[in-house]
Amino acid sequence: QDIYLPWLKGSLGLNVNHPLHLKTLLEETQDFSEQLYQVEPALPENIHHQINSETLYSPNDQEFRLGLCHTLNQLDQQHLKVALKESYQWSSVSPEQRIAVIEQFALILEHHKYELIALCINEAGKTWQDAIGEIREAIDFCHYYAQSYKGLAQPITLPNAANESNKLIYRPKGTFLCISPWNFPIAILTGQVVAALVTGNRVLIKPAPQTQICGRRIYDFLIASGIPKDSLYFLPATNQLSQQLVGNPQIDGIAFTGSLATAQVIQQELLNQRSYAIPLISETSGLNCMITDDSILTEQMVKDVVSSAFGSAGQRCSALRVLFIHESIYQETIDAIIGVMKRLKVDHPRQFDSDLGPIIDEAALERLQSYIQTLQEDKKLLYQIQLPEMDGHYFAPALVKLHGIKELTKEHFGPILHVIKYKSNDINQLIQDIEDTDYALTLGIHSRDKHWIDFLCTNLSMGNIYINRHITGAQVAAQPFGGHKKSGSGFKAGGPNYLLQFVNEQCISENI
Ligand code: NAD
Ligand code: ALA
Repeated sequence: QDIYLPWLKGSLGLNVNHPLHLKTLLEETQDFSEQLYQVEPALPENIHHQINSETLYSPNDQEFRLGLCHTLNQLDQQHLKVALKESYQWSSVSPEQRIAVIEQFALILEHHKYELIALCINEAGKTWQDAIGEIREAIDFCHYYAQSYKGLAQPITLPNAANESNKLIYRPKGTFLCISPWNFPIAILTGQVVAALVTGNRVLIKPAPQTQICGRRIYDFLIASGIPKDSLYFLPATNQLSQQLVGNPQIDGIAFTGSLATAQVIQQELLNQRSYAIPLISETSGLNCMITDDSILTEQMVKDVVSSAFGSAGQRCSALRVLFIHESIYQETIDAIIGVMKRLKVDHPRQFDSDLGPIIDEAALERLQSYIQTLQEDKKLLYQIQLPEMDGHYFAPALVKLHGIKELTKEHFGPILHVIKYKSNDINQLIQDIEDTDYALTLGIHSRDKHWIDFLCTNLSMGNIYINRHITGAQVAAQPFGGHKKSGSGFKAGGPNYLLQFVNEQCISENI
């Protein structure tokens, strides 16, 4: 589809390197940051909350403003059954009106951008740049899905056959469970939910436990935009409860973004609990590589390597995990990367010049620390920057040397970059080894040799390939995002086919 995208590549008009924007950002976000969202840990899991039959769960405003968004660990199945009774108001709303409501929601997001930026920084530990990008991406998803839905809203006239008229229409599947991760607590959650809503489905929002206030705010704004309350529910459920929900017979489809391990559990749960297959759209982990050769511009490459591996504290599924360096430029590249790493600033995300904020929680930090300890014992740690004593879950970016990608069996979700030296003769084996990981999310190529670039693009199957640039931050519509094999299933988010996963096709043939 050819959609006009005036909003593409915007950053909400905000630039943290501009002194005036910086002043506005500080002033506009201050109240939200310092008064409203003193985020406190969720209450212990043994607290069973009363479930309001209308919203399933809805903290009152005062609770919410204090950051007390309790985690649900139990759901009254009878309540759930009643709430998910077959008909829901949104299904009888016209496609034009649904599009208008989603556009209205985008306006509300834009209007509340400072609050949402403050929330992303405080609850998810995002840097300013990342928080601004996150809200922008959420708004982009709304416009893009609203506009692309126009292509599905009208019946398609099919060829007449034997005096019969034929048409194809797209209908909502029914009720979608949208399970989102903490690392894009607003953008990914919004993308999933808006795609399901604009196509006419009812939605259960299941945010990540670490960032459920972000999720709750999106729920509020969707309701304020005009989504009926019987068509959208907010369920800040524990992982265990989320797993139970997956098997609920009233759910007609699941949009999941998170780790491979969780996707496997959900898939198994569906096999065990459901009597027929329902769609599972899963967007999962990556073991993302970049291949460089000796024709590259070192400065450009190193800048892109550092931002891809350490930006967002490495907590992006798209982040660079393994850099392949040609032997002829190996040492100079390592020296240059270490030189830039020495200047990285790991600091509280409210500091404007912070390059990396914290790791999301203690458990994640401990996993990274334990991995680094093993690498250190195995003498694979090339360099790690030194951090002063800091209050919070901070992790020093690290550079690690490997002999081959086979030494890595899974994604380590943090600022750790592995480097591998290769010789020209190794290239076929190298390609085979990358493919054998069975991850297929992002790939970077740095080279000035067109034939070489084409060769790698042809022989490597990753979902998103970036040439001579960083490998994170796909733009909605321009760079549809997502992988396959261990990295996911289904059509790409922010792409022209994504919405097809939320509808059923119906063919109507009439004897004329
Ligand atoms: P996670 O798998 O731990 O959790 C994701 C969501 O699943 C959360 O809402 C969580 O509560 C829920 N969940 C956890 N266990 C569950 C279970 N047994 N049954 C049902 N639901 C369950 O992932 P995370 O730590 O929140 O996010 C980081 C991961 O997400 C990384 O692996 C990253 O690569 C991946 N990710 C992928 C993409 C992509 O587009 N491919 C984007 C962002 C993040
Ligand atoms: N879409 C996000 C990126 O490209 C995950 O970094």
